[in-house]
Amino acid sequence: MASSDLLPVSGALAPRAPAPDVYTHTDALAERHGAVNLGRGAPDFDGPAVLRRAATAAMRAGVNQYVASAGHPELLETLGALAVPEGTRYDPRTEITVTAGATEALATALETLLRPGDEVLVLEPFYDSYPALVRRAGGVPVAVPLVRRGSGYVLDADAVSAAVTGRTRVLLLNTPHNPTGWVASAGELESLAALVLRHGLYVVCDEVYEQLVHGTGQDDRHRSIASLPGLRERTVVCSGAAKSLSVCGWRVGWAFAPKELSGPLRDAHRMLSYCAPAPLQLGVAAGLAWAHRTGWFGLQRQEYRARRAALLAGLEAAGLCPVTPSGGFMIMASTGPDLPADPLRANELLARDFGVTGLPLPGFHVRPESASGLLRFAFCKELGVLQEAARRLSALAPATEKGTLPA
Ligand SMILES: Cc1ncc(COP(=O)(O)O)c(C=O)c1O
Repeated sequence: MASSDLLPVSGALAPRAPAPDVYTHTDALAERHGAVNLGRGAPDFDGPAVLRRAATAAMRAGVNQYVASAGHPELLETLGALAVPEGTRYDPRTEITVTAGATEALATALETLLRPGDEVLVLEPFYDSYPALVRRAGGVPVAVPLVRRGSGYVLDADAVSAAVTGRTRVLLLNTPHNPTGWVASAGELESLAALVLRHGLYVVCDEVYEQLVHGTGQDDRHRSIASLPGLRERTVVCSGAAKSLSVCGWRVGWAFAPKELSGPLRDAHRMLSYCAPAPLQLGVAAGLAWAHRTGWFGLQRQEYRARRAALLAGLEAAGLCPVTPSGGFMIMASTGPDLPADPLRANELLARDFGVTGLPLPGFHVRPESASGLLRFAFCKELGVLQEAARRLSALAPATEKGTLPA
């Protein structure tokens, strides 16, 4: 069940001062101490060269002005043919919209669906943009905690059900999940789908890590809730090239939605950013086609599994009790017995004395104090960088064993 210390009395996230900018905090720490920076969830390597070649060719060929607001036809066609969730179809002419990153897809989806005061269910911890995106669209975010069980996180379907009120309008779902690495199982998606249909809700599903499911078990693969019976008509699927193709700075994302929802979503997008960067849309179209043709996403998953193993080994050796993520490229860990529970302070000590930084997560929780004792480490880094981080982290082990750390 939802734990009452995580859900405020009203069940809603009260307006509060923004959480500290932990990204800038972490970057500054890493620079000051020459630390390996595992704070930011952006790769330290470029995506496949085919993307840059196609984008450069598009710039040289004069694709440098606005394109159709809904998206360049070449990317829309490619998305419709290759990137839609398994078991679904979307018409590129009316049901797919290219946006300025997945973030804009999420923002316009929420703007389309929410009326003032509507409640939006979010799973906690959550990607730190969510509360602000919901509030900007006039909604009220309501947090339901994911539960740590065994070696990972699971959904508490009863807690989600208990959080539904007469004002609930949208379930904002993220699978694979940042920061926990949770990947919704078939059973979890079915229980959420049943709840959505029972209460006439809508779903905004953030699937930016769809190509990064690491499990080896048969059940461990990405599934979209949009592919379940009756859900396509009630779901906006948001994704993008940032994580799948390692081009976070290109700002190319997309939304798949039924025609009735795509119309207003496209209107919102037209007024917000008008169109995503034109030549980069063509780079992404070429990259997606190439990745599907060559099976590159599978190779990328193998590389990520090696990266995950290297970092997990280092965190385990340091006694930081990492949770093995089933998807995405983040690892949640504890600050251990000897680092302070205050995650900002723990991160500072880690950077100063051991030359590694993670990311404190106050902005990923309803109440910053729920982030106490937790750090997130990103493994979207070159293998050698992660091995060096693991080597440095292992120096933490003797201090942990001795129960002492430099003051
Ligand atoms: C869960 C999640 N959604 C969305 C985004 C942002 O995607 P984009 O860069 O395409 O806007 C991120 C980035 O870290 C993320 O972790």
